[in-house]
Amino acid sequence: IPQMLVDQFGRRVDYIRLSMTDRCDFRCQYCMAEEMTFLPRDEVLSLEECARLVKLFVRLGVRKVRFTGGEPLVRKNALWLFQEVNRLPGLEESVLTTNGSQLSKYATALKAAGIKRINLSLDSLDPQRFKAITRTGDLGKVLAGLEAALKAGFDNIKLNTVLMRGLNEDEAIPLVQFAIDKGIDISFIEEMPLGEVDHARKQSAVSNMDTLARLRNTFSLIPSTYQTGGPARYWQVNGAPSRIGFISPHSHNFCENCNRVRITCKGELYLCLGQEDKIDLLPLLRQYPDDDTPLIAAILHGMQIKPKGHDFDLQRAQPAVIRFMSHTGG
Ligand code: GTP
Ligand code: 5AD
Ligand code: SF4
Repeated sequence: IPQMLVDQFGRRVDYIRLSMTDRCDFRCQYCMAEEMTFLPRDEVLSLEECARLVKLFVRLGVRKVRFTGGEPLVRKNALWLFQEVNRLPGLEESVLTTNGSQLSKYATALKAAGIKRINLSLDSLDPQRFKAITRTGDLGKVLAGLEAALKAGFDNIKLNTVLMRGLNEDEAIPLVQFAIDKGIDISFIEEMPLGEVDHARKQSAVSNMDTLARLRNTFSLIPSTYQTGGPARYWQVNGAPSRIGFISPHSHNFCENCNRVRITCKGELYLCLGQEDKIDLLPLLRQYPDDDTPLIAAILHGMQIKPKGHDFDLQRAQPAVIRFMSHTGG
């Protein structure tokens, strides 16, 4: 069995993003429609199946796993999976992306389970606005969750912010100031057209080029070589520990350096966030409970069909990618 996954463009895949559930207690406007139906349980990977897949990928040279969703922490026994995976030799980092609603409850246990870093979605510091964006979220709970995570010893939390015109575009500066006050990092993400949501993304799009320019009027920023293996490009805030990341699928394509694939909660291996190319691993998992050979063959085939990059286009009326972000885990 090969010790490394390499695609046809010579890119090494050493990072998997695993969506543990399509469910979420929030309904963020850019991620979900107001009315969502969730998958029946038997169509979703069991936690044992999740663990089996992560183990297999680590045998194939993967060094980083990020748990996503939906909201990973609404999955019952999520901690079991983190513990199970944490023991794997070869895995350098297991990390989590969360909306923070359950962090107060789980922060200490997450640390103990070996989660190394947490990325926390935060789009507004105004309670009413936060509610409008997330539809069901409670800002107070999320901020309490952040404090709990800091207290539990997560010193490298990163905020994720999606700015939208007419909604929270004016919060870039206050959010960066908040990150600086907390001594943590923040990334700005350009909204991506996945799934049909209830607002027009073409109208709400904010370019990271504009955000960077605005931030530079207020903060002294120095280009940084900091890298996490993710798509962000970072700037250091001069005189503060915080870094500002920019994830700019529209204004600065980063596909050339792609090192990752995704596993959806349905056990589909998506080779690119912005394309439909995928391989169904679930039938193989269930048909061959004791034999990894067919799974390995399928994953290796996946490397051969990994697309060169996304072609997100905000001008199109319908998103090219029909599945929702919450399904693929971003
Ligand atoms: P680290 O770099 O490890 O901190 O994580 P990350 O920023 O890659 O992960 P996170 O889950 O916090 O995702 C932040 C944003 O980056 C989300 O909107 C993801 O959809 C987006 N993202 C992550 N990987 C890719 C990618 O390969 N392609 C695209 N287009 N977006 C990505
Ligand atoms: N475009 C960009 N980012 C998105 N996220 C969710 N949906 C979208 C989208 N359509 C972000 C969330 C979370 C991260 C995993 O992805 O804010 O922080
Ligand atoms: Fe839930 Fe995250 Fe999607 Fe918001 S962005 S609805 S928190 S999965």
